[in-house]
Amino acid sequence: MKKAGVKTKKMVVTPWEVEGKVDYDKLIKEFGVSKIDFALLERIKKHTGELHPFLRRKVFFAHRDLNWLLDEYEKGNSFFLYTGRAPSGPVHIGHLLPWIFCKWLQDKFNAEMWFQFPDEEKFLFKKELEFKDTEKYLYENMLDVIALGFDPKKTHFLIDTQHAGLMYKQACRVAKKITFSTIKASFGFTNETNIGSIFYTSMQAVPTFLPSILKGKNIPCLIPLGIDQDTHFRVSRDVVPKLGYYKPAIIHTVFLPPLSGTSGKMSASDDSSAIYTTDTPKQVEKKIKKYAFSGGQSTLELHREHGGNPEVDVSFQYLKMFFEPDDKKLEKIEQDYRSGKLLTGELKEILIEKINKFLKEHQKKRELAKSQVDKFIFKG
Ligand code: TYM
Repeated sequence: MKKAGVKTKKMVVTPWEVEGKVDYDKLIKEFGVSKIDFALLERIKKHTGELHPFLRRKVFFAHRDLNWLLDEYEKGNSFFLYTGRAPSGPVHIGHLLPWIFCKWLQDKFNAEMWFQFPDEEKFLFKKELEFKDTEKYLYENMLDVIALGFDPKKTHFLIDTQHAGLMYKQACRVAKKITFSTIKASFGFTNETNIGSIFYTSMQAVPTFLPSILKGKNIPCLIPLGIDQDTHFRVSRDVVPKLGYYKPAIIHTVFLPPLSGTSGKMSASDDSSAIYTTDTPKQVEKKIKKYAFSGGQSTLELHREHGGNPEVDVSFQYLKMFFEPDDKKLEKIEQDYRSGKLLTGELKEILIEKINKFLKEHQKKRELAKSQVDKFIFKG
């Protein structure tokens, strides 16, 4: 069996870097978040009638204050959803995890959705990125979000540089309550970090309470996100109550792994690690065949004898996390792979077909989204 190439790297999980084998139990402890347990799943199910595969399969695995959020909901105090995307490159299928989940939550809880596009964020963090690049990606990334089917009447896009008039004063209120030493300790910044990056968390905090300001009443907020983004909110959750608003609740997803293996995360800046939403069927086929790390044996004979290891097999993991929602079908694939009946090449074919079917639909909806962008941008 092949060894995952990046296995020896130390685990690092920050909003800008995810490296090494991600140990989610360790992250739960280090970040101080709570595991989503059976009782909480049952409580969610009471309201939604069913559990999204992301919940059944523990793709969304941790939370902050979700029980509190449901207490409020049960008292009639409905919440809004908030998530975001820093436009700095093309969208890959990993980014879609929190957004697909948001769409499901919007439908199930009839929730308003605030989607932030912090177009200054990566401009500040990435040396080579200019505003002309972020402008292009902003438009492209908005199409991907709209294509997932959000309700335009209940979904509002906030673009930091365009909505600065609305957001900047609130960001200053947040910034006034965060010291440099807190930011330094939380993000590992140094004296060489530019001052825009130091301020940035204040902008990401604003949408957690902006709807409360606009509606003139306190509204609970739920943020679905990849756990790499948690640090921004660990800091903001201390500040927001000091301004008179609720601490936002959070629900965290694990990372869709890169094609190269189950360490780190799929990243838009590495072409051989990612499947982009705009990839053609041929590109998908080529990437999966060439790069998707296999848990299979090195020869056909060995594979038939010993079987494959689905835990480290990227194709199986993509099916489990995203592309095969049917539990029975997934179980059969898993059994056949473990027993050696299903070969790596055959497993990859199943995945290629599923991804291409998904992307064909997504790309169609992405085209239709072009005439819808204006409806989503907040005009308040
Ligand atoms: P960004 O643009 O890096 O990523 C957007 C969202 O995608 C998640 N994500 C992933 N999830 C699963 N598997 C992966 N491989 C993967 N890669 C990325 C990220 O965790 C994120 O949720 N600062 C933010 C933008 C932002 C935001 C927010 C995110 C602004 N406000 C509120 C979440 C909630 C950013 O750079 O995300």
